[in-house]
Amino acid sequence: MRLGIIGQGYVGLTISAFASKHYEVVGFDLNSKVVSELNNGISHIEGVDSKDIKEGIQAGKYKATTDAADIAGSDIVVIAVPTPLDSNRKPDLTYIDSACKVIAENLTEPALIINESTSHPGTLRNYIKPAIEKYSKAKLAHEYAISPERVDPGRVGWNQKNTPRLIAGLTPEATHRTREFYATFCDNLVEVSSPEVAEAAKLFENTFRQVNIALVNELAQISHALGIDVRETLDAANTKPYGFMKFTPSAGVGGHCIPVDPSYLAHLALENGVRATFIERANEVNLEMPTYIAQRVASDNGGSLKGKKVLVVGVAYKPNVADTRETPAEHLIEALNEMGAVVTWNDEVVGNWKGQSSSALSGADIAIVVTKHGVVSSGAILKAAPYVFDTTGGVKGAVQL
Ligand SMILES: NC(=O)c1ccc[n+]([C@@H]2O[C@H](COP(=O)([O-])OP(=O)(O)OC[C@H]3O[C@@H](n4cnc5c(N)ncnc54)[C@H](O)[C@@H]3O)[C@@H](O)[C@H]2O)c1
Repeated sequence: MRLGIIGQGYVGLTISAFASKHYEVVGFDLNSKVVSELNNGISHIEGVDSKDIKEGIQAGKYKATTDAADIAGSDIVVIAVPTPLDSNRKPDLTYIDSACKVIAENLTEPALIINESTSHPGTLRNYIKPAIEKYSKAKLAHEYAISPERVDPGRVGWNQKNTPRLIAGLTPEATHRTREFYATFCDNLVEVSSPEVAEAAKLFENTFRQVNIALVNELAQISHALGIDVRETLDAANTKPYGFMKFTPSAGVGGHCIPVDPSYLAHLALENGVRATFIERANEVNLEMPTYIAQRVASDNGGSLKGKKVLVVGVAYKPNVADTRETPAEHLIEALNEMGAVVTWNDEVVGNWKGQSSSALSGADIAIVVTKHGVVSSGAILKAAPYVFDTTGGVKGAVQL
């Protein structure tokens, strides 16, 4: 069995590493630097071990390529390309479109096409299938299915093998073949009645997180105004054994999923005459957090940050990954700059960001912790400045959000 995987980022490479233990995998990506590193056995994704890539290459089971023609002869093709928002915060399916073109122009035999990219209900049926048919000269009778990816880079304990996976095909045959494929490396496959249910479930999972994070961030603001410790309140509520799930306050949400996916649902809802007010407001609350934090820090420091040396600690959007996509640190830095602070950032896991290198974890008037990586000790953070504000709850002795 030959497998083509379009996109070798977080999702595509994770699948490649698992699938190449069983199948012959060709990982196609437009990024030649990534492809050449992969072919040298170097993984660029946390959670994907370079050892697995090397083993795949040595066994002749894995190769990365920038040549789309290499996916010819694939029995299965998995789409794992970005699905961002455009400048108007509307779904941007241009990467999906280009993946469809690659598939249509290069497959030589009918294949099973599986979409793992996150998108709104109807994407497989009304967008991917018609696009491949439109671009294809060979008019091959492909099968189509969906299996939204749930990987959480950096999470320990949950992986491709033990995380339940939703599957649905456009035909019973597609569902059957999709089950057979994932069953080789995933223990728990959950079949749903249509691709639209799987697509909607994936969006709702992330919407649930976005709304609850916003709710707890609102509670953090209310608690501060009332002089109540928000984290103690949440721990107290969490002693209820049912009907409560604990989320914790933060500087906001980041990454490719939580700040983005709910807008796919909201957009489709609006197109169908329903306003997703919860999603819109949750988005706003989370996006307002950096400004709220900058204002709180200013108020603790004599009401002004003008000329003060402020160090933002941790610019990745979550601990122990180098991913800065949609990081709330960016909005915080903007807000601090607008208030006249002299802003630098420290993040040894990220290293370089926006053309700048990580600054030293020392010598600031104020430090604000956005993300605390495991390799950074609380002691070192507390020594970085006389005033430390912690949005993570992980730096004991700092002023807490
Ligand atoms: N990262 C996550 O934790 C995660 C989790 C679940 C779902 N998803 C979803 O999976 C999809 C992929 O996300 P990701 O995090 O892997 O993105 P990513 O940016 O890490 O990787 C995408 C890769 O696709 C490549 N690419 C773009 N267009 C291409 C094309 N036409 N042909 C070949 N390669 C192309 C890019 O160069 C990049 O290397 C998105 O829809 C995302 O929402 C991501």
